[in-house]
Amino acid sequence: MLKTDRLIIREFKNDDFEAVHAYTSNPDNVRYVTWGPYDREGTKAFIDRCIARQNLTPRPSYDLAITLKDTGKLIGSCGIYISDDRMQAVMSWILHMDYWKQGYMAEALKVLLKFGFEELKLHRMYAGCNAENYGSYRVMEKCGMRREAYFIKSKRGRPGIDKEWYDEFMYAILADEWRAGSGTPESEDRMKI
Ligand SMILES: CC(C)(COP(=O)(O)OP(=O)(O)OC[C@H]1O[C@@H](n2cnc3c(N)ncnc32)[C@H](O)[C@@H]1OP(=O)(O)O)[C@@H](O)C(=O)NCCC(=O)NCCS
Repeated sequence: MLKTDRLIIREFKNDDFEAVHAYTSNPDNVRYVTWGPYDREGTKAFIDRCIARQNLTPRPSYDLAITLKDTGKLIGSCGIYISDDRMQAVMSWILHMDYWKQGYMAEALKVLLKFGFEELKLHRMYAGCNAENYGSYRVMEKCGMRREAYFIKSKRGRPGIDKEWYDEFMYAILADEWRAGSGTPESEDRMKI
């Protein structure tokens, strides 16, 4: 379980279904992700997959529910997918659109990076996003991640739907950068949890 000022980020449970389906089933909510919108079977398969992986050793991924500390309401999810050599991880995230633009995902990503570097001892964490997805790349910039690639028409998927080629940004941060950044005054805000 990971905690921030306003959030508790925890393992998924079967009774999270309705809260998860509220965003996985909404086409506007999943416009910039590579999956969905899910019907009820799709959402159930996602939750089943997350729960099944909780007991694997070594654990290949952490799909975690983002909940509000005050009410316990599930507002989204985030994931860490670890490479076979367990040195790097790619991340993903989504929030129910009722909770966008309130700083929640930056808060979640900061603690996710801390978990990846301090607990999982990763060397590098990274994520890609559609170059139109301002919310997603701004969250990464707020957390000290660097834009290190701009791929032109490299991915085929939404918006479109699934018919258009789109540009992709790749952002990353190394463990050394994260450690160095966490101690400096100018990065205090972006690294603070
Ligand atoms: C991307 C996402 C996780 C951002 O989370 P968030 O908690 O809203 O992010 P923040 O509140 O920290 O906002 C970061 C910045 O992005 C902006 N922003 C957030 N969501 C936005 C949106 N949908 N459209 C435009 N701008 C958005 C915020 O206004 C803020 O801008 P600023 O730094 O210039 O003030 C959220 O929009 C989301 O779940 N989107 C759908 C799923 C998705 O695209 N996932 C990523 C796939 S790569």
